[in-house]
Amino acid sequence: MDGGREFFAYRDGRLHAEDLPLEIISREVGTPVYVYSKAAFLHALKSLEDAFKGSRHLICYSVKAASNLSLLALVAERGLGADIVSGGELYRALKAGVSPRRIVYSGVGKTAREMREALEAELFMFNLESEGEMLELARVAEEMDKVAQISFRVNPDVDPHTHPYVATGLKESKFGVSREEARRLYAEARKIPWFKVIGIGCHIGSQLTELAPFRDSLLILADLARELRSQGHNIRYLDMGGGVGIRYRDENPLSLSAYAEMSLKAVSDIPDLTLVVEPGRSVAGNSAVLLTRVLYNKRNGGKRFVVADAAMNDLIRPSLYGSYHAVWPLNERPGAALSPAALVGPVCESGDFLAKDRELPDLAPGDCLAVKSAGAYGFSMSSNYNSRPRAAEVLVSGGDFRVIREREDYESLVSGEDILQLN
Ligand code: LLP
Repeated sequence: MDGGREFFAYRDGRLHAEDLPLEIISREVGTPVYVYSKAAFLHALKSLEDAFKGSRHLICYSVKAASNLSLLALVAERGLGADIVSGGELYRALKAGVSPRRIVYSGVGKTAREMREALEAELFMFNLESEGEMLELARVAEEMDKVAQISFRVNPDVDPHTHPYVATGLKESKFGVSREEARRLYAEARKIPWFKVIGIGCHIGSQLTELAPFRDSLLILADLARELRSQGHNIRYLDMGGGVGIRYRDENPLSLSAYAEMSLKAVSDIPDLTLVVEPGRSVAGNSAVLLTRVLYNKRNGGKRFVVADAAMNDLIRPSLYGSYHAVWPLNERPGAALSPAALVGPVCESGDFLAKDRELPDLAPGDCLAVKSAGAYGFSMSSNYNSRPRAAEVLVSGGDFRVIREREDYESLVSGEDILQLN
């Protein structure tokens, strides 16, 4: 459920995406398959737009969460921007029609080639994360005779109370620069004629369910922005980083209006300042499910295993972060007896599971399951491990659907490889 609307729900005992029974997709496209709801994706974007309505703001969808061109085209159609972290993401965003003047380039290790491509595209802002990166961008910009609009990502040393792998704003993390370092770098950057300093940014982590860490980091950044302005730096953009967390199980997601209100209040005394937000998970997370088909049932050491055709290479979040994704059969089974089981895939690792210690009904080979909340960091983190072709992606709108990424085949697995002998 999102904002009171269900985009994936049972109707007459059959799980639907919008108005389409998911079994149609499992039958016609096969499994594993990621199924996105266009209405859910747009609803999430629009809820955020509404929350910030009337204020100076820029929403830059975080491409890493789910980067299919069809999804990025929805972002572009709404006139929104993108947050990118690689040349590949820049390529995708531009190809989907996102305006380069609304693209923020984040990330701790941009290469000279990526900088060149971004300068060529004249994108909106580079968020720099170290002195070395600053000097490299200055060198590339000079070489190209282009001016780069920049900001520094400040590490506010705030605990976001989230999984340690996705906490990014603690002082011992690799991201951003300390406040002291930022002061020094802003002073240095001012001397570089190839730079126009326009912003300041941070990102403290993902899947945040509390307002306080957002507020704490924003207050620190706002203070620094005021200080820098008083020194003559023309800070006009404050980039707050990623968006709010979502409900996977029983989390209480932050209200978007409370989040927007708090953010706008924190900077209300800074004139002509535009807030930049880079939401990924809150837009894509509950916009898709991963469909998988049961292959076998087995018991080992008294434990029940349901072996299905999706694995950690398709959705790595449970294995990597111990994340919870709800698992729903495509055919509702009210009153069915449940027993604890692990839902596992065919990959040769004991860490290959989609769900553990989960109460599941009896399932037979051929039954289909929906792994929920799989839209963010699902397909985008998938791999070919065990030489498994990556899943198809499908976009549903109303009662219609389109394949927006073909399932990979064996040919695509080896494309670019050759059998060469070295003597
Ligand atoms: N901006 C920056 C600079 C980021 O590093 C991130 C995410 C975002 C925006 C988007 O944050 P969001 O709105 O999605 O919270 N793979 C992990 C999440 C990694 C997040 C990395 N940075 C997961 O599956 O939970």
